[in-house]
Amino acid sequence: MTDLYDLASKDRLAFWADQAKRLFWHKPFTKTLDWSNPPFAKWFEDGQLNASYNCLDRHVIAGNGDKVALLFEGEPGDTKTYTYSELLSETKKAANALVGLGVQAGDRVAIYMPMIPETIIAILAVARIGAVHSVVFGGFSSESLRSRIDDAQAKLVITADGGYRKGKAHPLKEAVDQALADGNCPSIEHVLVVERTKNEVSFGPKDLWWHEALEAAASEHVAVGFDSEHPLFILYTSGTTGKPKGILHTTGGYLTGASYTHKTVFGLKSETDIYWCTADVGWITGHSYVIYGPLVNGVTQVIYEGTPDSPSFERWWQIIAKYQVSIFYTAPTAIRTFMKIGREIVDGHDLSSLRILGSVGEPINPEAWNWYHQVVGGSRCEIVDTWWQTETGSILISPIPGAFKTKPGSAQRALPGISVGIVDENGVPVERNVAGYLTIDEPWPSMLRGVWGDPTRFKETYWNKFPGKYFAGDGARFDEDGDIWLLGRIDDVIKVSGHRLSTAEIESALVEHHWVAEAAVVGAKDEITEQAVVAFVILRQDEIADAPSETDIAKILRDWVTQKIGAIARPRQIMVVTELPKTRSGKIMRRLLRDVAEGKPVGDVTTLADSSVMSAINDKLHSGASD
Ligand code: WTA
Repeated sequence: MTDLYDLASKDRLAFWADQAKRLFWHKPFTKTLDWSNPPFAKWFEDGQLNASYNCLDRHVIAGNGDKVALLFEGEPGDTKTYTYSELLSETKKAANALVGLGVQAGDRVAIYMPMIPETIIAILAVARIGAVHSVVFGGFSSESLRSRIDDAQAKLVITADGGYRKGKAHPLKEAVDQALADGNCPSIEHVLVVERTKNEVSFGPKDLWWHEALEAAASEHVAVGFDSEHPLFILYTSGTTGKPKGILHTTGGYLTGASYTHKTVFGLKSETDIYWCTADVGWITGHSYVIYGPLVNGVTQVIYEGTPDSPSFERWWQIIAKYQVSIFYTAPTAIRTFMKIGREIVDGHDLSSLRILGSVGEPINPEAWNWYHQVVGGSRCEIVDTWWQTETGSILISPIPGAFKTKPGSAQRALPGISVGIVDENGVPVERNVAGYLTIDEPWPSMLRGVWGDPTRFKETYWNKFPGKYFAGDGARFDEDGDIWLLGRIDDVIKVSGHRLSTAEIESALVEHHWVAEAAVVGAKDEITEQAVVAFVILRQDEIADAPSETDIAKILRDWVTQKIGAIARPRQIMVVTELPKTRSGKIMRRLLRDVAEGKPVGDVTTLADSSVMSAINDKLHSGASD
């Protein structure tokens, strides 16, 4: 593995060209990178390829069609296996069905689905015809779905009658109906519905059953090559403003990054490994490490529909033992949840098949790292703590198994081919053991190519703070050995159970309620979920004449946020206050509110316009008058 570091440091571009050549190119590229107009990068620009062909046809043509691609485990216990050949023939039919519905290369298709094989088939079918998928996590509300459909001007939605979660059929089609109600989302021409839970759904003139469309479709479909920079997908993620942004990834560079990192970081032995990443395809981890990375690399992987506690907390460990999973990739939140329950749940299962354990989404604290290592990994498995973002497309910082000794809590090194720095406010590199801002100093193939429809936002958010460098939004420091420790976000993005949310987005949802005059949201430290949403609201007294109790108000507002954004954004606590702490220039001092929410002594209040505000909030908290 040290060879990779050497190769990449000798000639970074030649290194990336070699990684890209692991893909099948319909037309080989001759140019590796065009960085003449930063921050707009073009990778492998004159090459052409097809993402779906790289995930499927290629393996079948190479004689591996009978290899199992997906081991699907439904939450109710139903199972289904797909070989690469089977996945390919379903994808071909789905591609033909999409073409039949008038979907063309470049059109956007929204996907709002549970974690079932059809979701993967739908994604690969969209990519196969050069259309652009925009997967919307099934836990997002109909309003969130609506705004994402509108922003991308999607032509089609693919959804399901429902998905199983926590023992219940979670409705999805209903949310699509709500999103499209009253003539909303006029760009949508059709809705394709996969039958999963058989719960009743209403069908209108735009709706079609997936199975009927596939049955009627021709079974042969020839994948053509698209330009390397052809858009592959948009994925909406939270930033510092109220409106989620559509992160755009293109084909050649993204596939190179996803497949190279999947192979390298997990030390893949594609012949024998059984791989399982627990992420939902609604997030970037599901895109890069359930769909594209693993399928390009031709592995056998487990897909599980439900939650870890259904029907009991044994479920994950049973799945690992049943399928002999050798590589397991999950989030620290899950590890901390199991830590709290106790090791007996895990100890009761034979996990000897495990070889590599991955962590993603938030910093993993050393206690959780050690528990993961000892209890899940039997002190035998390597742990890879992988740092990356929706924007980076693939893992950028992580240990490589066997390359050097791992350290609990540190993501360690930039991968070969990636160049990172840690700088102060003025862009000057900081000394070791000094905290600073994490930057990525050279372009990399799977970098975002833009924010959908908003080139200015792309430049301003990521490239203006430190000219020429990508600003990640995370704090970090190098330790004395040069290993990297991630210190969390330095902006208003928060991480709740590994899910990315923006405080501004939750604030704007709250102030849309007619009771709320002003809202401030903070991410308070939480033992299990890393951060939890805590909101402070000022009410409009004129609007709540027949005043419900504060507890009722808080409950109603929490439900409101669920309805507006989705259950993942539901505040853990809402505090009704009469004033918010502001500086003389009118900026809300969230740091002070975070102290209150975390039950810590409130820090320096001297910059407040009115320093008595914090004591009023504190007094209120201690008198117990919060939700
Ligand atoms: C955080 C998830 C520490 C970080 C793949 C980043 C991490 C944000 C780690 C991106 C890690 C992700 N250690 N922090 N190993 N992995 N993060 O876009 O703050 O959902 O900026 O992508 O998650 O979140 P996103």
